[in-house]
Amino acid sequence: MKAVALTRYLPIDDPQSLVDVELPAPAASGHDLLVRVEAISVNPVDTKVRSPKPQVEAQPRVLGFDAAGVVEAVGESVTRFKVGDRVYYAGDITRPGTNSELHLVDERIVGAAPASLSAAQAAALPLTAITAWELLFQRMPFDPDHGGRGKSLLIIAGAGGVGSIAIQIAKRAGFRVIATASRGESVEWCKRMGADHVIDHRQPLAPQLKALGFEQIDAALNLADTDRYWETLGEVLAPQGHVGLIVEPSGALKIGDPYKAKCIGIHWEMMFSRPRFKTPDMIEQGKLLDRVAQLIDAGELKGTHTETLGKIDAANLRETHRRLESGATIGKLVLAGW
Ligand SMILES: NC(=O)c1ccc[n+]([C@@H]2O[C@H](COP(=O)([O-])OP(=O)(O)OC[C@H]3O[C@@H](n4cnc5c(N)ncnc54)[C@H](OP(=O)(O)O)[C@@H]3O)[C@@H](O)[C@H]2O)c1
Repeated sequence: MKAVALTRYLPIDDPQSLVDVELPAPAASGHDLLVRVEAISVNPVDTKVRSPKPQVEAQPRVLGFDAAGVVEAVGESVTRFKVGDRVYYAGDITRPGTNSELHLVDERIVGAAPASLSAAQAAALPLTAITAWELLFQRMPFDPDHGGRGKSLLIIAGAGGVGSIAIQIAKRAGFRVIATASRGESVEWCKRMGADHVIDHRQPLAPQLKALGFEQIDAALNLADTDRYWETLGEVLAPQGHVGLIVEPSGALKIGDPYKAKCIGIHWEMMFSRPRFKTPDMIEQGKLLDRVAQLIDAGELKGTHTETLGKIDAANLRETHRRLESGATIGKLVLAGW
């Protein structure tokens, strides 16, 4: 089968950083589905894992943590899917990734793809939807259907992959959403995703919130830079508020006052935790993806795909990584077909 892989960890401008390879096709057993991958999307985790370092792989390493495709074969314990089903999923960082024609994934972290989306549009969603949904509704104490009623939510990096779906699920839950974006086109995108207000993360946040009438906010999702906004969020969060985090801090965080004085709940999300530690509830990830697909098909959520950069090959994948490394992409970038 065709795949895109690395053996060395090189800057993305080096043509050897990601290369086209032929690999033996894997076989499904146990709870695994063998999926014929039709489209993939790229996330910052791909570029972080691929980042330059001296390590060398003895065998080609395949990255990629988002896919949409069709079930080609199933393991003997599979109950949720059958051959021919259209599926979408993010997968498991401890296993080979989705940048291959055929891919093995545990059925419990797979969802039925939204019927109303193409494979390219579906591939844009899983990793970011899992992240935003688990963070807001499973780590933080908010109900997905009405838990945001009467509450304000600040979403830092609203136009990113995670922010684009976070804005939508938060609005659906009833939050008043203030997103952050720093450029005209990312501001417009946040509004299209449903944000009530958009403020600029390159300027101090507290005065901008005050100018909009928010002396305090009830909850915040920091989807960009944990250290950079830590002090500000401590200031603007209301007593008994909640902050959601997804990015590793560069150093120690001061978790005492004002966080302690205000009893602010600090919630971590790591969307690979369930598959990585094989938690007994890992099927919740598959169920979550099924739910998101139903909401997409019902017109309650929109896809976040912004651009397909061509078929799945090393040259197009290098370009997608390069674009993502700029930190200025909007929504999701996808590759489709082989
Ligand atoms: N823990 C987890 O499970 C998990 C899951 C998914 C992602 N993540 C991490 O979360 C981060 C975001 O992921 P993503 O997929 O949403 O990324 P992304 O799509 O690359 O985010 C791009 C957006 O980030 C905004 N941005 C860039 N620098 C910023 C800054 N200093 N402050 C605020 N916003 C900034 C940009 O907005 P403007 O262009 O408007 O400036 C841009 O629209 C990444 O670090 C990723 O690795 C963690």
